[in-house]
Amino acid sequence: MSWGLQSRMARIIRGDGHGVMLAVDHGYFMGPTRRLEKPRETIAPLLPHTDSIMITRGVLRNCVDPKADVPVVLRVSGGTSILNEDLSKEAVTTSVRDAVRLNASAVALSIFVGAPHEHQSLVALGGLVNECEEIGLPVLAVTAVGKELEKRDARYLGLATRIAAEFGAHLVKTYHCDDFHKVVEGCPVPVVIAGGPKLDTEMDAFQLTYDAIHDGAVGVDMGRNIWQNDHPVAMIRAVRAIVHEGASVKEAGDVFRSLREGKKGRK
Ligand code: R5P
Repeated sequence: MSWGLQSRMARIIRGDGHGVMLAVDHGYFMGPTRRLEKPRETIAPLLPHTDSIMITRGVLRNCVDPKADVPVVLRVSGGTSILNEDLSKEAVTTSVRDAVRLNASAVALSIFVGAPHEHQSLVALGGLVNECEEIGLPVLAVTAVGKELEKRDARYLGLATRIAAEFGAHLVKTYHCDDFHKVVEGCPVPVVIAGGPKLDTEMDAFQLTYDAIHDGAVGVDMGRNIWQNDHPVAMIRAVRAIVHEGASVKEAGDVFRSLREGKKGRK
């Protein structure tokens, strides 16, 4: 691994081997997702509390202050919207050259294993890794399941994450599931988990984070469970406590409640 690639990876996965990535790229196929309708307002208060941000170039350019010192994981794949039954028809939509121009620390692309456009998404991953290896830019592969959330089991996610690593991804994003440790064990590169749709309670999100870290994930790439909460800053700081400080689920709950009580409202 080149020095530049290692250096960029270290901006995402920090010195303690863990990382909190804030996912705000949902609009690329979901449009103005609830509570991400005005991205600038959602993102700004969370920036001081995240290690990196996963985002598209359109929202980055228009809604994030270029002076903000936050490592960018730039989503570079897309091509279908939530209106389409099959979400797998994605291709690379943002060039590596533009990623560099935007000072990205990594690029992210979805693969759709087992879906109608599996082949094109995997070939796109291989091509992107080829290009990014040339310049030392890490590639995050997202094991996307489209609308089939029930696909999230260890057998499927183990297959998808392993294929992503075999194609050369430097980091893989997947979902937590029963027997998640088997997914991690079968994937020779670091794994982060997405939060998925907002869970019923904050404690559910903390339990998910705790289980993922204890099963071997290096961190989270979490969106809706943070910014769809009434107290997004309290949420991300509590998630951070689990990821970076070894907090228990109960301790994360205490962090959340003390911050929530201290600052009422969407702060
Ligand atoms: C979805 O495809 C996006 O890539 C999100 O970045 C990802 O799902 C993580 O966000 P959330 O925690 O809201 O699932």
